[in-house]
Amino acid sequence: STTVAGKRALHAKTTPFPDKLAFAFDIDGVLKQGHHNVLPQAKRVLRFLSGAEGRLPKPIPFLLITNGGGIPDEERRAALSRELGVELTENQLVQSHTPIKEYVDKYKDKPVLVVGGKGENCRRVAESYGLKHPYIPQDIIAWKPDIWDRTELTEEEKSFVRPADFSQIPFSAALVFDDTRDWGRDITLILDLLSSDKGVFGTRREGHNRADLSGDVELVMSNADVEWRSSWPIPRLGTGAFRLCLEATYKSTTGLELPYKQFGKPFKATYEFSELMLRRYLKQVGRNSNKELNVYMVGDNPLSDIDGANRFGWNSILVRTGVFHDKHGEKPSHKPTVICDDVEKGVEWAIQEEL
Ligand code: G3P
Ligand code: MG
Repeated sequence: STTVAGKRALHAKTTPFPDKLAFAFDIDGVLKQGHHNVLPQAKRVLRFLSGAEGRLPKPIPFLLITNGGGIPDEERRAALSRELGVELTENQLVQSHTPIKEYVDKYKDKPVLVVGGKGENCRRVAESYGLKHPYIPQDIIAWKPDIWDRTELTEEEKSFVRPADFSQIPFSAALVFDDTRDWGRDITLILDLLSSDKGVFGTRREGHNRADLSGDVELVMSNADVEWRSSWPIPRLGTGAFRLCLEATYKSTTGLELPYKQFGKPFKATYEFSELMLRRYLKQVGRNSNKELNVYMVGDNPLSDIDGANRFGWNSILVRTGVFHDKHGEKPSHKPTVICDDVEKGVEWAIQEEL
């Protein structure tokens, strides 16, 4: 379809203002391909929408919703602002674990195991959410290396572990905040906790394999993506694939379905939270936060971005720069409102729709 009006909006000096328009952008496969590769189209589009070029009478509201994570929200916001060339506010970024902040308030004073990410970054995420006793797998290995003897702590890891006697510490939850860097170790530790007696490592409760006797440890997952788009051209396995392994191993060791609570896209809690953020952002830029919005989600993954947006009543724009491609006429598993080559084409299309 032609996007003449949209193009005009993106490149001309003056435009009519699309008052109800708002955007939700996925990051990996839409704005970026890998850690260090920001798409130039993404930079152009975000500068335009934020009003930085002076071509808009006021900013067009947008936020980024990623199933990525593993870094405190504030640090990720600052890093993305630098990379993308626009100053994002705290209301413009939702990572897969951001909506968990409120959910885990109940564990504020309780020991939790935080899994995933580089080094002890996920411990810092948990601390930024107010959790006072977040432990990481390396702490447990430092306590008893025999609990998982297939990999050893590096010197760097030894420098940040927190020594504790875990035979005396009852865990209340295991929180998976990002891709684990040691799948075998972390599957083992999570299964240990789920089958433990009152959340203590090295114990196993009677009836741990009976469906009518649930355990004491809640498993909370962020990011359900089985695949995602990194700097490698073929989709890579993500945190959702780790969950599939947990489900399979839990089933084969206990005979039961894995009990867990899931956040991230495509789940409603994440979209509700994001819409709230968009409205906070409107307020922040001095616009009516209760106004009617037509939100367009731009994503590369039909199973997360598109499914979630469709279910939440947003418009959905599927791009060809990430997980999805249709080189051989493939149809997406969830039908978007439109398929576009990249984020810039998608934004042009949406502006045209709204003018
Ligand atoms: O780990 C990142 C990933 O699963 C997807 O990130 O930005 O495409 O939702 P994003
Ligand atoms: Mg993506």
